[in-house]
Amino acid sequence: MLIFILPVIAGFVQVSQAAALVTVAPTNSSAQLGTNATLACIVTNKADTESVQWKVKTTGSSSFTALTFNENVLASTSKYAIKHIYNLTIINVATTDDGLYRCSVGISDNLTNYDAYFTSVSLPTNMTIYWQSNPDSGKTVNLTCKATNGRPPARITWIVDGVDLSPSQYYETTSLTSSGYGDAISRIALFISHQYSGKIAICRATYDGWDNAMEVSTVLTFNGVPTLQATGLLMGIFLALCTYLV
Ligand SMILES: *[C@@H]1O[C@H](CO)[C@@H](O)[C@H](O)[C@H]1NC(C)=O
Ligand SMILES: *[C@@H]1O[C@H](CO)[C@@H](O)[C@H](O)[C@H]1NC(C)=O
Ligand SMILES: *[C@@H]1O[C@H](CO)[C@@H](O)[C@H](O)[C@H]1NC(C)=O
Ligand SMILES: *[C@@H]1O[C@H](CO)[C@@H](O)[C@H](O)[C@H]1NC(C)=O
Ligand SMILES: *[C@@H]1O[C@H](CO)[C@@H](O)[C@H](O)[C@H]1NC(C)=O
Ligand SMILES: *[C@@H]1O[C@H](CO)[C@@H](O)[C@H](O)[C@H]1NC(C)=O
Repeated sequence: MLIFILPVIAGFVQVSQAAALVTVAPTNSSAQLGTNATLACIVTNKADTESVQWKVKTTGSSSFTALTFNENVLASTSKYAIKHIYNLTIINVATTDDGLYRCSVGISDNLTNYDAYFTSVSLPTNMTIYWQSNPDSGKTVNLTCKATNGRPPARITWIVDGVDLSPSQYYETTSLTSSGYGDAISRIALFISHQYSGKIAICRATYDGWDNAMEVSTVLTFNGVPTLQATGLLMGIFLALCTYLV
């Protein structure tokens, strides 16, 4: 037995001395204000001569600030922690945490950088689904989803009757404020037919690395849906629609 295992162990040790291996690199991600966020940088086979360092270039700043060196937090320990090896935790996420995060791995004069953007999120205050005009049978009508006052405005995905219709959406943002809040409005054109009757339409707010931050859904019903006045009062239309759908 030993004769067979020993060469394997010897081979493994040799490989492990060669260079650190990043098995999970950070990806663009988002987290709600006030929560703790994690950026991944999982490293194996790190030699003693090598290090893993987190740095950040926050939005609006022109240079990187060192945050960690291996397990050690160089910046505020009430803001950053290293979990496992070497995920970065951003504690109590604030808008000032937005920016480019860099996990640098290697020996000091030959670091390889793994970059990802982090975005703090204030979720929309509300999401509603409504028809842009009367869903009359035989017509093509936009089904609209509005995610109100998110920071940044949410991206939208649509699932109608189990099918992802997101690629065909018309997307726009409105009511943008200087602090980055805004409404997201997304429309999908549906041909009104019994194909969709009784089927569920789901609209989801998504952010980088956060696919289902918030969602609203509605049952599509056309039979007996009376003419709705196009008043421009979106809530009114939504509520009226709800009343008839229920
Ligand atoms: C990450 O975010 C940056 C800035 O928003 C963007 O340019 C880049 O394409 C994103 N990367 C991926 C893989 O989505
Ligand atoms: C965030 O992390 C800090 C420090 O590890 C911890 O005290 C706090 O309970 C965490 N908060 C949440 C919401 O997990
Ligand atoms: C490190 O981050 C990755 C990716 O987000 C996650 O899957 C993993 O559970 C994290 N590990 C720890 C210990 O935080
Ligand atoms: C720098 O590090 C990379 C990745 O570990 C390695 O492939 C490369 O050979 C190194 N270059 C030098 C000059 O040491
Ligand atoms: C969103 O707005 C609708 C219509 O005014 C209301 O009925 C609903 O309770 C609101 N949802 C949330 C989460 O505020
Ligand atoms: C749906 O909305 C898009 C974007 O506003 C518009 O270009 C298109 O004409 C609308 N389609 C219908 C059927 O109303």
